[in-house]
Amino acid sequence: MNDLRPLETELLAAVANATDEPALEAVRVAALGRNGSISALLKTLGTMSAEARKEQGPRINGLKDRVTAAIAARRDALKELALDQRLNTETLDVTLPVPEPPAEVGRVHPISQVVDELTAIFADMGFAVAEGPDIETDDYNFTKLNFAEGHPARDMHDTFYFNPKPDGSRLLLRTHTSPVQIRTMLAQKPPIRVIIPGRTYRSDSDQTHTPMFHQVEGLVIDKSSHLGHLKWILQEFCKAFFEVDQVKMRFRPSFFPFTEPSLEVDIQCRRDKGETRFGEGDDWMEILGCGMVHPNVLRNCGLDPDEYQGFAWGLGIDRIAMLKYGMPDLRPFFEADVRWLSHYGFRPLDFPTLAGGLSG
Ligand code: DAH
Repeated sequence: MNDLRPLETELLAAVANATDEPALEAVRVAALGRNGSISALLKTLGTMSAEARKEQGPRINGLKDRVTAAIAARRDALKELALDQRLNTETLDVTLPVPEPPAEVGRVHPISQVVDELTAIFADMGFAVAEGPDIETDDYNFTKLNFAEGHPARDMHDTFYFNPKPDGSRLLLRTHTSPVQIRTMLAQKPPIRVIIPGRTYRSDSDQTHTPMFHQVEGLVIDKSSHLGHLKWILQEFCKAFFEVDQVKMRFRPSFFPFTEPSLEVDIQCRRDKGETRFGEGDDWMEILGCGMVHPNVLRNCGLDPDEYQGFAWGLGIDRIAMLKYGMPDLRPFFEADVRWLSHYGFRPLDFPTLAGGLSG
């Protein structure tokens, strides 16, 4: 009978010399695969006499077992070697800063923050939030607000108009949030107590004006609200918004077509080295317009001015955001620069609340 030892020596050497798993697999296939050398030997058993098989069977199977075991052992060793190699080459610097999760990196835009602050303050006083479309009719933006056709106050609004329709009427980008007063009065019965934050548009651009800007309107309509209530609301608002205990306000006569009387409001401030502080000093800054809703406006909304009365105000959100958070230029508000936003933006999970603090 032929000697199996040279084959065994050769196979075991090949197993020992396999330096990676694919090489080891090639050795296994060459020995134990369908056409492998050991498989060929096993096939010869069938052709043998019972006698010869009794002798050769254990020898060939013994060879098969030893080679199988050697391959398994080598495979384990190679796996361990590969792991060692990976551990030696892969390094992890545990002193590196942990990357921040998205909720930590993202920032809330100052305008959104200020709208949330306003909403928290007025909600506490019982105001609901109303909204209207950015694209308005001339009727709601002007006529129903008592701007007569051809009235010079219309020209002061630097309106963006759309192309005229066949009937000659023109839609426009609303120049103020006041048309939502009309929409609100047409849609619901008094008592009305709403604030209306939103985008507004005028053809104007410099350090403190952008063609798109934001206003918040206030509207109160019932049977007995008067200027004293308006004054109190605005005073409470300014104290809460600027987070000061005291704020002096000055009400000056003014003109708006949709209010009578009309007033402009200044608040006390101190201007110091380019900074503006509120609740102290002897300087004044204009922050809003307001007044008693004009009887014509009430009539235009189907309300009887002998029965109903109320007041309204409008103020620039961007402007009070700049004042509160010390931002000198309005234009970067709308440039979508993440560096600016990460500097001036607010942490997303710090919701402004009156109890928890508005500006965190
Ligand atoms: N709509 C005015 C503007 O944009 C602001 C304003 C003034 C609104 C007085 C009012 C108000 O509701 O009563 O210039």
